[in-house]
Amino acid sequence: MLKPHGGELINRIIPEREKESILRDSSLYPSLKVDREVLLDVENIATGVFSPLRGFMTKEELFSIAYNMQLPDGNVWTIPILLQLREEPPFSKGDRVLLRNSKEGVKAVLDVKEVYRLDLRRIAKLIWGTDSEEHPGVSHFYAKGEWAIGGDVWLLDRVDTPFREWILDPEDTRRIFEYRGWKRVVGFQTRNAPHRAHEYLQRLGLEISDGILIHPVLGWKKADDFDAKDILRAYDLLINNYYPRNRVLLSGLATAMRYAGPREAVFHALIRKNFGCTHFIVGRDHAGVGDFYDPYAAHRIFDSLPADIEIEIIRVTAVFYCSLCDTIASDKSCGHPKENRTYISMTHIRKLIRKGQIPPSTIMRPDIAEALLRSYDLVS
Ligand code: ADX
Repeated sequence: MLKPHGGELINRIIPEREKESILRDSSLYPSLKVDREVLLDVENIATGVFSPLRGFMTKEELFSIAYNMQLPDGNVWTIPILLQLREEPPFSKGDRVLLRNSKEGVKAVLDVKEVYRLDLRRIAKLIWGTDSEEHPGVSHFYAKGEWAIGGDVWLLDRVDTPFREWILDPEDTRRIFEYRGWKRVVGFQTRNAPHRAHEYLQRLGLEISDGILIHPVLGWKKADDFDAKDILRAYDLLINNYYPRNRVLLSGLATAMRYAGPREAVFHALIRKNFGCTHFIVGRDHAGVGDFYDPYAAHRIFDSLPADIEIEIIRVTAVFYCSLCDTIASDKSCGHPKENRTYISMTHIRKLIRKGQIPPSTIMRPDIAEALLRSYDLVS
């Protein structure tokens, strides 16, 4: 099996005895209230999802990934993993701080290396290629604040989330792949319920592998994306009614979408490498939003990385329905003119469903569309 990024799976889950002693002495440490997004990223660090990271980035690490797309140790990395705050925190290097959330108490330990101020616009331009507040990933980044604490973390307890049963650790997926005898494993990232283009990509993956990991993002997303419950229900339908069940693993990725296009495609690939995938699919405008990125920037970035990332990238160009072929195809497999093609856009599908309409069956399976429509009716 492909080794995790950096060579070993990071494990920062605190040993039980240490945990007891920290909880017993908790009044001796300063504490910081953080939200679920931060605690999920602590969990991602602690369980090796973000290997080789051991904590939240220091300024040196942030600048290194922002300018060179690699950590100071040389490993490729493209997306900031930051603990951001709106006000200057009263901590300094060497402090041990307990991270807690409002309802559940102490969840993690942070050993502070550095407190620093972020130049939010400069970082946004380097990472997202824009400092526009119109960009949902950038505005979310701004809202989290201009102060950052860098330092290693230890996880005490996992935070409550409605999707807990869907979250597997890299250790779990690696064990499942081994048990199932999967050597070639294709990872599929998504933030959406499946339409026919997604299905086409997944079937490509199924053709060339022992199995695929369908791994939708369950963390923060912009308001008009489908919510996690609908995505999981739709995939349950697709897998149980159409795919060979023993060749697909469905699990959720509990981190936020960044909508950072090409840089996020690399981040997504590295994460799936940590989960044990050997291959990763990058389609058209991967992790893009609006017109912020060239649709194939997320393909090209893999040619300009400063070091080998080992996981193999399967690049797929735009997939559409062609009425003359009467099937889903791409430029590589269809020779008909554009007039016969229906491009498959999630924005368009979402609009139809929210108006109470079922999209054409050529772009989304009717049973999946109906399930999405029913769930939309329930909440509206
Ligand atoms: S993403 O933000 O997670 O990339 P989405 O869930 O829509 O969004 O896409 C999942 C994967 O399918 C991405 O790799 C994306 O590039 C690819 N994809 C989605 N729609 C198409 C399409 N019409 N043609 C080719 N690839 C597509």
